[in-house]
Amino acid sequence: MDFQKIREQVIEASLDLQRKQLIRGTSGNITIRTGDPDLIAITPTSIPYEKLTPDMIPIVDLKGRQVEGSCKPSSELPMHLAILKARPDVGAVVHTHSRFATVLSILGIDLPIVTIPLMLYAPSPAPLVPFKLPGSAELGEAAVRYLGENGTGLLLEHHGLVAVGADIDKAMTAAEYIEEGAEIAYYCQLAAGKIDAIPDDKVEELRRILESGRAL
Ligand code: 13P
Repeated sequence: MDFQKIREQVIEASLDLQRKQLIRGTSGNITIRTGDPDLIAITPTSIPYEKLTPDMIPIVDLKGRQVEGSCKPSSELPMHLAILKARPDVGAVVHTHSRFATVLSILGIDLPIVTIPLMLYAPSPAPLVPFKLPGSAELGEAAVRYLGENGTGLLLEHHGLVAVGADIDKAMTAAEYIEEGAEIAYYCQLAAGKIDAIPDDKVEELRRILESGRAL
């Protein structure tokens, strides 16, 4: 199987996260399922994103064995694999150390539905996962537990965010909206000492509008 296209997608998505300032340095990582149900492509560990070339991108099986790629997989491989094994509907996982998601996680706040885009991820856009060591199996287990069957996002305490989607575009969009929501929630907390979520009845109304096919 030729993994060139999927490897290019991993690089493109990484550079996009960097342009959007969701990742800095070598923090953050991405996985995308390849066409083979047992194989994923993942960012390598500790390589600056602008230096990545397709041949460097590791291809790894669901047991964590590397089958191709000149670089070692991300240290967060256990978390990515745990999520991809638990959620067959997920085609891509994005993990960032983005600023406002991290701030909110340190304040100990689950991200509520504070903006209209976040209602796409109702009822809970990004619950807070208590601190676990990066790269640990415990972090992967906790991520799976807090995502549940339908979750799209997580805040990782003192760490950042995780966003998942059916494909890389959806996972990237979720990461952007979660970070934007975290920023808005933080400023509300700063200005008013509270974060008001959109009331449940309004979320219901918005859902009906969305289901009618109108964009919000
Ligand atoms: P990697 O460079 O190994 O992906 O680790 C960075 C990171 O984001 C850890 O959470």
